[in-house]
Amino acid sequence: MPSMTERSQLGLIESSLAYDRYASRYDAVLIENKINAYMRSQMMDEERRTFSPGDNLLEIGCGTGDEALELAKRGCRVVAVDPSEGMLNQARSKANRAPFGVRVKFLKGYAREIGALVSTIETLPFDGAYSSFALSYETNLELVSEALALYIKPGGFFLAALMNRICAAEGLLAIGTLHPSMAGRRLAPITRHKVGQVNTSIIARTVHDVNRVFNPFFKLVDLRGLPVVLPPAYMNRLTRRFPGVMELFEQVDAKTARLPILRGLGDHSLFRFRRRHAA
Ligand SMILES: C[S@@+](CC[C@H](N)C(=O)[O-])C[C@H]1O[C@@H](n2cnc3c(N)ncnc32)[C@H](O)[C@@H]1O
Repeated sequence: MPSMTERSQLGLIESSLAYDRYASRYDAVLIENKINAYMRSQMMDEERRTFSPGDNLLEIGCGTGDEALELAKRGCRVVAVDPSEGMLNQARSKANRAPFGVRVKFLKGYAREIGALVSTIETLPFDGAYSSFALSYETNLELVSEALALYIKPGGFFLAALMNRICAAEGLLAIGTLHPSMAGRRLAPITRHKVGQVNTSIIARTVHDVNRVFNPFFKLVDLRGLPVVLPPAYMNRLTRRFPGVMELFEQVDAKTARLPILRGLGDHSLFRFRRRHAA
């Protein structure tokens, strides 16, 4: 991973600062971009299936707080962490307007800092944790895995959606549009990632790499590509041009996302890990 100086020489800024600048527009873009909206809805379905009312949960990279507030509405308590003050401000103002907002506690910090951040929470350990589209900005997943191992109950679930290093749809589109560099984007040591008007860096990891980091403490019990059939969200213009096919693609995607081989070739991968019981 490049150092701070190397990143600023390349015009890349820290992920939290990029999201500070983007925060006021984030929710609108998520609605406008149909691929992003589909990914969000699939992730939230998974969260609803996995967690139960009364659960005490941790969210890493909560953004503007929609998932934490949805789970709070269903009776969960959530400690929601994000490094961007701008995103947290949006989240806090939504929580202030909702009667169940008091069930969410927002904390500022990077994923790698959660060990120290949550150590003083009164309601430890957590029944489970989740992280949507945030951990690819994190440089040190090992620290995240160790902290989650400390603070998630044995048998508890950890759901995580991370950017995949090998994306079949992107590869096919790169060949089809004669833009081979598009396919190599994720293989470079620094994957440049646009957030609004600025660029930050992201780490595209293989399923194998992510599993290796969490495997000492968590068993991988389910995996799906998110999405597999649809192109990555930055190609949203395709869905704007052919709006009718989006619904069809969503149906096919939901049916194929867990098929062997295909599930490891999505734009993102959605991991369902289960905290191992001590040996
Ligand atoms: C794409 S948004 C996702 C937000 C939310 N989870 C959702 O799905 O709408 C990425 C979020 O990750 C946060 N983030 C950036 N770097 C992070 C890091 N190292 N650890 C945890 N969160 C990070 C950003 O501030 C931003 O809120």
